[in-house]
Amino acid sequence: MTKLKKVLQYTTMNNIITIQNLTKAYDNGFVALKDINFTITRGEIFALLGQNGAGKTTLISIICGLVRPSTGTVTVNDDDIIKDYRKTRSYIGLVPQEITLDPFLTVTQTVAYARGFYGRPRDEKLIEEVLTDLSLWDKKDNKIQELSGGMKRRVLIAKALMNEPEILFLDEPTAGVDVELRKGMWDMVTKLKNRGTTIILTTHYIEEAQEMADRIGVIADGEIKIIEEKDALMNRLGTKKIILTLTKNCDTLPPELVDFSGLSLSDDGHNLIYSYKKSEHTGITTLLTAIKGSSITFTDIQTEESSLEDIFVSLTQKHE
Ligand SMILES: Nc1ncnc2c1ncn2[C@@H]1O[C@H](COP(=O)(O)OP(=O)(O)OP(=O)(O)O)[C@@H](O)[C@H]1O
Ligand SMILES: [Mg+2]
Repeated sequence: MTKLKKVLQYTTMNNIITIQNLTKAYDNGFVALKDINFTITRGEIFALLGQNGAGKTTLISIICGLVRPSTGTVTVNDDDIIKDYRKTRSYIGLVPQEITLDPFLTVTQTVAYARGFYGRPRDEKLIEEVLTDLSLWDKKDNKIQELSGGMKRRVLIAKALMNEPEILFLDEPTAGVDVELRKGMWDMVTKLKNRGTTIILTTHYIEEAQEMADRIGVIADGEIKIIEEKDALMNRLGTKKIILTLTKNCDTLPPELVDFSGLSLSDDGHNLIYSYKKSEHTGITTLLTAIKGSSITFTDIQTEESSLEDIFVSLTQKHE
């Protein structure tokens, strides 16, 4: 095999989901997705971020075969989601955004039936492991109607895992789940990733995406605005700030410092703030030398870094 062929084969093997020219117009004419093109890499954690109504659930529902695309194709493991629906669905576990559970079944019954639904034999060990990982073991004999909202959401995750899926979609999995349990949930996601599961999630807690995701996709008004490795994205668009607490408040910048771009005074004149892009050369040394030669003296120095949330807000605001 030539080197090129090998590279090509590796590339396709490495793409577990391929989305091409995908659009979705709902029956009422509303266009929820516009020409979506991207791939999901095998084994990655991919976070899809977007404001309410951006099109996240629509996109996930199409890949999972619950909503029909208007145009375009989606393949999962090289199988077409429409022509080979049963096959593609069998690779996937979906944790839906809406809670849809039978209130009268117990937790164990719910997950055991889910496994049966996937045509797999009952597996007590798996049930115990999954329920324990999701801190639901002590609720195993409770009826769904006896659970709290956060517990029900975790039952949805347990259900999806009964298929031992290669790909797990988590659509707002932590909505209504308290901080401690959310942490437990992410530990479980890390465990799945380490076993090779590909994970695609949406969340409104952007700090979670910042912590968990390998890659970030931002969607707004049905269009993908950005797809990038998280670290690269944060380096490219992230900003850093150096904040100097001044010995004496200042109304205006002294003449030695007026030419520095990115330099400003806080409204109360108590701080001198220098903002710069993480990816650019900073010029800190030149700045500090200029400060030394000016009338300004300072008592403290602090640094701040922008979060993925700041970047997300600036990205989605631009496109409003
Ligand atoms: N069945 C439907 N018929 C018509 N329009 C729909 C339908 N389902 C969703 N939409 C519209 O498509 C757009 C995208 O909805 P979607 O549920 O995909 O957004 P989302 O990004 O998941 O939002 P959220 O963060 O609120 O979950 C919205 O404007 C919504 O009103
Ligand atoms: Mg949604």
